[in-house]
Amino acid sequence: MSARLHDLTEEQSQIQSLAREFAQREIAPFIEKWDEEAYFEPSLVKKMGELGFLGMLLPDEYEGLGVDTSTYLLALEEIAVVDASTAVMMSVHNSLPTQMILRFGSTDQRERFLRPMARGELLGAFALSEPEAGSDAASLTTQAVRDGDDWILSGTKSWVTSGSHAGVIIAMARTDTGQERKGARGIGAFIVTPDLAGFHVGKKEDKLGLRSSPTVQLNFDGMRVPGANLLGEPHLGFVYAMKSLDSGRLGIAAQAIGIARAALEAATAYAAERRQFEQPIRDFQAIQFKLADMATRVTASRALLHLAAQAKDRGVNVKMGCSMAKLLASETAMFCTNQAVQIFGGYGYVKDYPVERFFRDAKVTEIYEGTSEIQRIVIARELYAHD
Ligand code: CAA
Repeated sequence: MSARLHDLTEEQSQIQSLAREFAQREIAPFIEKWDEEAYFEPSLVKKMGELGFLGMLLPDEYEGLGVDTSTYLLALEEIAVVDASTAVMMSVHNSLPTQMILRFGSTDQRERFLRPMARGELLGAFALSEPEAGSDAASLTTQAVRDGDDWILSGTKSWVTSGSHAGVIIAMARTDTGQERKGARGIGAFIVTPDLAGFHVGKKEDKLGLRSSPTVQLNFDGMRVPGANLLGEPHLGFVYAMKSLDSGRLGIAAQAIGIARAALEAATAYAAERRQFEQPIRDFQAIQFKLADMATRVTASRALLHLAAQAKDRGVNVKMGCSMAKLLASETAMFCTNQAVQIFGGYGYVKDYPVERFFRDAKVTEIYEGTSEIQRIVIARELYAHD
C-alpha cells in the first residue's frame, strides 16, 4: 500500500508476517466488541509472550528475541494496523520497563524480572506522570522516604498504560527532601509490584480512543518498597526515564504509522468500491489527492522512523531523531484518519466501518509520551545544544 523505501531482511519479513497473522487471528475478530466495552483481554499478554513479542529487544540470555530496533518497530506497526490498543501495551512493555531494567538495573533485578517479562508472565508499565505533573514531568511530587533498607512511597501516578494488569511498574518518585529540592536530579526510579502493601489501582479512565488498553491511576499509600527494588542511583530516575522515553517515542511513532496505514488502506479500498455520479469515487482527483497525500506522509514517517531506529542501534544520540519521528508520525496519524473519515463521508462517522475508531485512536499519539509541543521543544533545544 504505502511505499517501503528499503528492503526487509528475511528475518524482518518473517517477524512482520508473524505479527500480521497473530493480529488477524487473535485480535481482529474481537476488536469492535473490545473497543465498545473498553475491555482488555488478559490472555493476549501470554500469547504475545509465547511468540516473543514481549521480549523483542531483550537479549537471548533473558529469553528475548534480541532483534534490532527496526525489526521490533516493523512488528509493532503490524499490530497497530489491526489494533492500536494492543500496540501501546506492546510498545510500553518493550520500550520502557524491560529496557529500564536491562540498562539501569542490577544483575539481581535483571535475573528476577526480565525472563518472566519476556515470557508474558509479567506485564510491564511505566509510571511517570501525575495529576499535576504532565508535560512538566520533573515537577512530580510522589515522595520516597528511606526507612532502614526500604523506601516508603506516597503519592498518585496517573495515565498509567496497562497499570491495572501490570506485574512490574517502573515508578518515578522524589528522593530529595522538602528542604533540599534538586528538581530533575532528585528523583529515583523504583520497581513496583502489585503485591506491595500500600499499592492500589485507582480510577480507570474512560477514554475517547484506545479503549481496550486500560489506563489507570495508581495510588501509593505509604507503600513499602524493598531497597533491592531501587533502580540504579537514587537521584537519577528522571534521567533514566528520559533516556528510555527516547526509545518509547519510537514505539509510539510505529503505532501512529500503523493507525495511519490502516486508515489509508480502508480509504483506498472504499474509494474503489463506492460509486457516486455514476463512477467510483477514486476516479475523482479530489479523492486521489487525499490518498496521495496520505500515502506520502505514511511513507515519509516510516522512513524517518527507521533512520532514527538505525542510528540508535549504531549508538548515535537520537534524542532529536526520536522526537522528530514521533512528531511527524503522530501528526500523520491524525491527518490520515481525518482524511479517511472524510472519504467515507457519513459512513466514516458511524461504527459500521472502522475508520471512526482509527480517528479516535490517533489523537492520543499527539499527547502521550510527550505532546507534540514537547517534541518541538526537545527538537528546538537540540538545535542549539552544541552552541
Ligand atoms: N536523554 C538523556 N538525558 C536527558 C534526556 C534524554 N532524552 N532528557 C533530559 N535528560 C536529562 C538532562 O540532561 C538533565 O540532566 P542535567 O540535570 O544533568 O542537565 C535532566 O535530564 C533534566 O532535563 P531537562 O533540564 O531537559 O528537564 P526539564 O524539566 O526541562 O524537562 C522535558 C524536559 C523534555 C520537558 C521533559 O520533562 C519531557 O519530556 N516532558 C514530557 C513528559 C513525557 O513524555 N511524559 C510521558 C509519560 S509516559 C506516558 O505517556 C504514559 C504511557 O504509558 C504511554
